[in-house]
Amino acid sequence: MHTKRDFLSIADWSGDDLRQILDISRRVKEYPANFVQALQGRSVAMIFEKQSLRTHVTFDVGIHQLGAHAVYLTQGDISLGKRESVRDTGKNLERWVDAAVVRTYAHQTCVELAAAMSIPVVNALTDLEHPCQAVGDFLTVREHLGSYDGKLMVFMGDGNNVCHSLMLMAAKLGMNFTACTPRGYEPDMSVFKASAGAAEESGARIEILHNPKEAVRHADIVYTDVWTSMGQEAEQEARHDAFREFQVNEKLMSHARSHARFMHCLPAHRGEEVTDGVMDSANSVVFDQAENRLHTEKAILVSLLQGD
Ligand code: CP
Ligand code: NVA
Repeated sequence: MHTKRDFLSIADWSGDDLRQILDISRRVKEYPANFVQALQGRSVAMIFEKQSLRTHVTFDVGIHQLGAHAVYLTQGDISLGKRESVRDTGKNLERWVDAAVVRTYAHQTCVELAAAMSIPVVNALTDLEHPCQAVGDFLTVREHLGSYDGKLMVFMGDGNNVCHSLMLMAAKLGMNFTACTPRGYEPDMSVFKASAGAAEESGARIEILHNPKEAVRHADIVYTDVWTSMGQEAEQEARHDAFREFQVNEKLMSHARSHARFMHCLPAHRGEEVTDGVMDSANSVVFDQAENRLHTEKAILVSLLQGD
């Protein structure tokens, strides 16, 4: 019997699996016409508890470009976990659609849906991880740096969902990674340990530091994200104070290697975690990242659904 596979956490996928998705992504990007019938006649449910621009549009357009149909469901439509149980929602959906793309607050909700359904589930961001972002970003890194080996990505700011998926991805693919955070805002220790374990195999170095200037000294990539993620709005003021010294500005970038690229998953809060000068600089690749979400998400869906 065919067993379905989910894409919930980078931790669940091997370095070889991830390299294969990146290979397919490059083919999807270079030869999109070869994939127009890849998922002909399939349907994909997109369940979003939180807001989205990039993930919503890239999955919707990508699914269409693969010959499939997307159904977008917000909390206003289905009240996931309130109108009926998460499990019952899944048990209905699996009778109609071939895959689900899911953005939730609690990571456990995404896991629960995946457990309830016999169809593949893709994590489109939870409070714990943002694996689709990491795959798109590592395609972008490869395009700009040529390789991962011996290169350093420094993630500046909050040890959040995006940081977690990037750290795991770097560890699996053999890229050095530093999370530079204020004390008390480090990445989740279980994710750090999983990353450190994967890094032992790949030879990557994974570190947590607290001094921005020292952290970026050998950086090939300086990455940041918002200080207050969706769902943390009540902490906004305290976070603003805690993160002030971790802003990525022209001065901080001047301490990184001269070719260092600036990355951000977006949306950006200009003037907070990043200045206009850095966002709009020649070394900023933020819109390449946004574009690559499209190609890599198509590759993820093709990997999960082809061969059914
Ligand atoms: N980077 C990202 O996932 O953006 P959205 O929240 O707009 O989807
Ligand atoms: N860390 C951010 C990422 C948004 C794409 C959030 O979860 O809101």
